[in-house]
Amino acid sequence: MNIVLGITGGIAAYKSASLLRLFVKAGHQVQVVMTPSAREFITPVTLSALSGRPVVSEFFTANTGEWHSHVDLGLWADAMVIAPATACTIAKMANGVADNMLVTTYLSAREPVFVAPAMDLDMMAHPTTRRNLDLLRSYGNIIIEPAEGELASHLVGKGRMEEPEGIFKAVTDYFAAREHQPLKGKRVMITAGPTREKIDPVRFISNYSTGKMGYALADAAARLGADVTLISGPVEVRTAEKGVTVVEVESGREMLGECEKVFPRADVAIMCAAVADYYVENPSAVKIKREGNEPPRLALQPNPDIAATLGRVKRRGQVLVGFALETDNEHANAADKMERKNLDMIVMNSLRDAGAGFGTDTNKVEITYRNGAFATVDVPLKSKTEVAADIMRAIIPLTEQ
Ligand code: CTP
Repeated sequence: MNIVLGITGGIAAYKSASLLRLFVKAGHQVQVVMTPSAREFITPVTLSALSGRPVVSEFFTANTGEWHSHVDLGLWADAMVIAPATACTIAKMANGVADNMLVTTYLSAREPVFVAPAMDLDMMAHPTTRRNLDLLRSYGNIIIEPAEGELASHLVGKGRMEEPEGIFKAVTDYFAAREHQPLKGKRVMITAGPTREKIDPVRFISNYSTGKMGYALADAAARLGADVTLISGPVEVRTAEKGVTVVEVESGREMLGECEKVFPRADVAIMCAAVADYYVENPSAVKIKREGNEPPRLALQPNPDIAATLGRVKRRGQVLVGFALETDNEHANAADKMERKNLDMIVMNSLRDAGAGFGTDTNKVEITYRNGAFATVDVPLKSKTEVAADIMRAIIPLTEQ
């Protein structure tokens, strides 16, 4: 495979040499493209020696006037990996600021682009960076989430570039999945996000679900070749893959209606939505006024349990997967949920684990299968993208039975 390794100016650039070695040892051709400031952190000599190719960082070679074609490089690449990616380069990529060889090559690249951010925790958490990363995701780029840990500033938090082995694995897993496509021809239905239950035209009952896990699962399933329908409550996230059809819904009852249309033809259904437990029996048709009124009493009705409803009509060969978010007695509760809803596999998040659950970018889960014996597969604390890939891999054997 031909890989363009883009290196930008951050302390983590010293790790790019190890990443380069991993790619070269695995038999890939690697062309390094550096931003001018990356040269302050690691020398082109090291990188050209390891890659066996001159490093490119300027549009021209000064003494010969030779022009380096970013278009040719973009076309040559089967993948572009930008590690480390600084906040500055991420911003330029998101907005097409093509003032260096790395960003022009990015804009010319037709094949998958992997971005491994590395920066201080506050820069990482800044809304600008988060928006720019969301933009890159929406262009179909794959973000390899940074880890929590000690940063160059000696502060501890999220922003440390994923280790070279992790980046290497993310890239090679991506291509392995794309090549083997074990879910090709399979229809996968996924529910995601929260639901909104109307109180009046401007107010609703909902919860903190962001939809990140469901969307990450949809992308992971599409990469494995599946034809994916994502039935989603209102969320900010977007899918990165072409093979995902998104059906937007608002309430739990609407979500059930759409699921009932899609489920009969689905091979796999993954219930990842945080469906509100109750809906308001008689939502007001007009905005409820505060002035001069008693506080309204909301009459609540239980929402349909979508997973359990599908569990009752499930055919032989269909795989139904549920999630459980537990705070106590986790294993017994999850096993009980799997029985009650007639699931084939349950993915358990424990709220006791830091980094797992609602609104975070990382997740720690345990997967338990139904089929007779309970086998538990631990998926340690990782980014939701990686966890989604692990969950999808755990589902594949069930589709082959
Ligand atoms: N689920 C669903 N429809 C609902 C509620 C839950 O499809 N109305 C699905 C979720 O998507 C998840 C699983 O069921 O896959 C477990 O959800 P949870 O809310 O934990 O289940 P409950 O039965 O509500 O559990 P508890 O008894 O803990 O409230």
